[in-house]
Amino acid sequence: MPKNNNFRLPSLKDAQIRTKETVKIEHNLFKLPEPTRNLGVGRKFFLRTYGCQANERDSETIAGILLEMGFTRTDIEEEADFILLNTCAVRKNAEDKVLGELGMLKKLKTKNPDLMFGLCGCMAQEEEIVQLLLKKYPQVDLIFGTHNIHRLPELLYNAMMTKEKTVEVYSKEGEVIENLPVKRFGKHKAWVNIMYGCDKFCTYCIVPYTRGKERSRLMNDILAEIQELKDTGYKEVTLLGQNVNAYGKDLDIENGFATLLEEVAKIGIPRIRFTTSHPWDFTDDMIDVIAKYDNVMPAIHLPVQSGNSDMLKIMGRRYTSEEYKSLYDRIIAKIPNCTFSTDIIVGFPNETDQQFQDTLDMVDYCKYDLAYTFIYSPREGTPAARMEDNVPMDVKSERLQRLNEKVGLYSNMNNQKYVGKVVRVLVDGLSKKNDQVYSGYSEENKLINFTGSQVQEGDIVKVLITDVKSWSLNGEVVE
Ligand code: 5AD
Ligand code: SF4
Repeated sequence: MPKNNNFRLPSLKDAQIRTKETVKIEHNLFKLPEPTRNLGVGRKFFLRTYGCQANERDSETIAGILLEMGFTRTDIEEEADFILLNTCAVRKNAEDKVLGELGMLKKLKTKNPDLMFGLCGCMAQEEEIVQLLLKKYPQVDLIFGTHNIHRLPELLYNAMMTKEKTVEVYSKEGEVIENLPVKRFGKHKAWVNIMYGCDKFCTYCIVPYTRGKERSRLMNDILAEIQELKDTGYKEVTLLGQNVNAYGKDLDIENGFATLLEEVAKIGIPRIRFTTSHPWDFTDDMIDVIAKYDNVMPAIHLPVQSGNSDMLKIMGRRYTSEEYKSLYDRIIAKIPNCTFSTDIIVGFPNETDQQFQDTLDMVDYCKYDLAYTFIYSPREGTPAARMEDNVPMDVKSERLQRLNEKVGLYSNMNNQKYVGKVVRVLVDGLSKKNDQVYSGYSEENKLINFTGSQVQEGDIVKVLITDVKSWSLNGEVVE
């Protein structure tokens, strides 16, 4: 094992521990120590992000830090002096992608021996993965985790100066750190963290181990950030948390998320979204706030995972299929134009045909606009990974296919309803596939491709929907 001052490995066992200690909120922790300040001058970094929006937002912090150190950003791997992969651990195929990429990039080191490789994010929090990287991926110079992004300047300096592997992963979350640098990748849409971590411990999920315990940011810090985004021309914020409904529980704020959402709405930024909501603690107060404010978008991501109550119990989801349906009904009753997206896992250990059928029935009931569907992937260290599984892989694949067919049917059916209607679209820019066509999202979170003149990125325009594609709608600007 390399001798190095910065050699600290993660432990999933330690990561599982939850204490009642109140988390400190640090406003002045980040600094660039003198020797790290110009480390990047004349050097370029390449940053690739895998996985969820929390990682996207972390990458904006990482980019902010590297730019402050004098680095410039490149999108071409061959040009880079520092290649960093911000990784996801939620399923095995996400990890395989990263390991494949590391294999492919290895050859760049023969061309440029000074090239540094870094890996961070959720995979870095897994002891098994770090051991594998140390043994089989000698090209990786720097590994750090989700809890110590603020340490990047010192860690990178150490790795570059000593030319020794530098590994620093904290198993346990630390403080909530405010005022880190940030380079926002979007010009009109911004991610805003409202809390970190997850305490739900669904039995299949690695996130509570890789992202630590639930910690909320102070409401004033969040509101100040959103006010500033509005003042600098941002049109949309997405409030982020593994489970936003738990916002404020650790700060003893009653009705935390509903209160926060209302305060954010009052700031008057044109569009507010949030993700992800857990059906278990989605309150009627939250529904009321979404219904009351026009700038809270009527599009809810409500992961169901399974339509069968016994399965939900084994998954540790804390709601029954009836309770989920009742929540869905209450939302629709107060927000009739609300669209729904969801996450579904098929092939959980020992899932029966009938249990899978209940999931299909749930899709019939909720008629989701969009569903992210996954085959269960065992995650080392989680309770489900220790369950015996009698469902063969071909059965799981076949279930996934049947599920996707049903999901596609409703997605298309819902989209058809928009033909002839006018929707309001926040313009992202020209469509990637056709530079005669603009694209953006409607309030209901539908992807809209449309034609029009004098359209500017960041405008909110009215679009008449003329026809429907599988995953998007076509239209033309009116007025
Ligand atoms: N296997 C398959 N899917 C998973 N998810 C989380 N953990 C696993 C796993 N071990 C899915 C859930 C979650 C989404 C982000 O990823 O559906 O909502
Ligand atoms: Fe994972 Fe469940 Fe937490 Fe979502 S709520 S991050 S699925 S443990």
